[in-house]
Amino acid sequence: MVMVGDLTHLLVPTNIGVSRRVKATHDGVQLALWRPMSDRTKGPVSRRRRFMKLAGMTASVATNYARSQVKGVFQDADTKARDKARNNARSGELIAQTLGELKGAAMKVGQIASVARDILPDDLIASLASLQRDAPPMDYEVIAAQIERELGSPPELLFQRFDRVPFAAASIGQVHRARTDDGREVVVKVQYPGVDESVDSDIAHLKLALRASGMISVRREAFDGFFAELRDRMREEVDYTHEAQNVRWFRALHADDDHLVIPEVVGERSSGRILTLTYEPGDQLSELDEKGYDQATRNLIGARLTDMLYRQIFEFHAVHADPNPANLAFRRNGDVVLYDFGCVKAFPQPDAAHYRNLMRAFRDADHDAIQVGMERVGIQRPGAQMDDRAEFYEQIRSSFGPFLFEDVVFDCHTAHGHEIFTRMMVKALRRPKHFQPSAAMLFTDRAQTGQFMNLVKLRSQVNMHRIYMKYLEMPQQGDAGFSERMRGVPARPPV
Ligand SMILES: Nc1ncnc2c1ncn2[C@@H]1O[C@H](COP(=O)(O)OP(=O)(O)O)[C@@H](O)[C@H]1O
Ligand SMILES: [Mg+2]
Repeated sequence: MVMVGDLTHLLVPTNIGVSRRVKATHDGVQLALWRPMSDRTKGPVSRRRRFMKLAGMTASVATNYARSQVKGVFQDADTKARDKARNNARSGELIAQTLGELKGAAMKVGQIASVARDILPDDLIASLASLQRDAPPMDYEVIAAQIERELGSPPELLFQRFDRVPFAAASIGQVHRARTDDGREVVVKVQYPGVDESVDSDIAHLKLALRASGMISVRREAFDGFFAELRDRMREEVDYTHEAQNVRWFRALHADDDHLVIPEVVGERSSGRILTLTYEPGDQLSELDEKGYDQATRNLIGARLTDMLYRQIFEFHAVHADPNPANLAFRRNGDVVLYDFGCVKAFPQPDAAHYRNLMRAFRDADHDAIQVGMERVGIQRPGAQMDDRAEFYEQIRSSFGPFLFEDVVFDCHTAHGHEIFTRMMVKALRRPKHFQPSAAMLFTDRAQTGQFMNLVKLRSQVNMHRIYMKYLEMPQQGDAGFSERMRGVPARPPV
């Protein structure tokens, strides 16, 4: 949950592309700009076929590796290295291709894993990042049957109107617009059958394949911790009851913010695999040019997004951790709409205090305190002696400088902005003697990295420093005034 790991991720845009969104015409009539029928999926891949494909992937990857090991005995160092690179690329492609074909949990895990630059090799990151984000839509019959199984009646009886053509693609389901009997316009997110059952098995296979590929060099505990974190979030993500509680929680957390729109749950039309929410329209990030959003509005939006993120980290200790631009929409008055609470990372108060201490230490250029902070947060191995400590910390600090620690308006879109991030060494934290990946950081990293990419695309000019400092000064556990501050923060409701 720290920005340090983040910066290494910032260098390469991840899979955060703009999702397909089905265009609805005005007048409520929907145009079928959706894919042709031939491209549609009749139903989910059977469990047996899924298992066979994943097992086949693991076997091929393992064979690749074994073959290169044997060959390596007879090769000189250069040829060996070249062979290893070729082998990694081949295995990476195979893994990404299999996950992409299987869709569902497998693909989603692959996409999330593509931000883990400190765990996975570059070849694999590149392949995973290319995974198409959304599954192709399923036939209406599959969707209607899933709704009836979950809610006890077909959509036509549950809603006054239910649009058969999906309104938007979701990663493990699809979204249809509808109207309730009491006249509310809603969206109904329907999870594809079988997705939730395959989470554990899909993740276990991916983990096995990566281990067998010979591509992973991090220590076993770090690798296991990373996958345990992925699995925990994925289990939550496929449980729409959990997501409904997150939506309610974040509505309560941000209740005093008139410029952040969070949908409302329609509980009586929701279940573990169906989530019905009030329809909250807005313009997608990719549409802002065409709609002529001016610079002042882009800046206002950028400032609001920045404020929202740091407020979640420092004040709420819970972060919306799926920063895909499709999960955001905007309005001309600068209001921000936030969708998709399937992936929320909540962290304990002491972690928030460690993070706060670390970032204050960076602000003050206090190297001893930075080291303590890095260790507490879990990315620096305890007691690691670094000969180049001062130089290394200063490098990190100077990358934060312009947008966190200098009182300037930061133009996210400029070459200068990019340069600051690319200056950071990609492999800085790949020094296993000194650093280790921290599973606890994975999703907050993802949120911050994705957020920055969104600000770049928004072309916002924001004084990040002022917003950041407001939250960095906020009392954390151990500070005077902490309990008074927490009194106003709604607790996470039980699921
Ligand atoms: N309440 C809503 N109002 C309008 N559009 C929505 C709403 N909720 C979701 N959407 C649209 O549906 C898309 C998919 O929903 P989302 O919850 O993000 O699914 P997933 O968790 O699979 O990514 C979103 O990217 C957004 O464009
Ligand atoms: Mg989404």
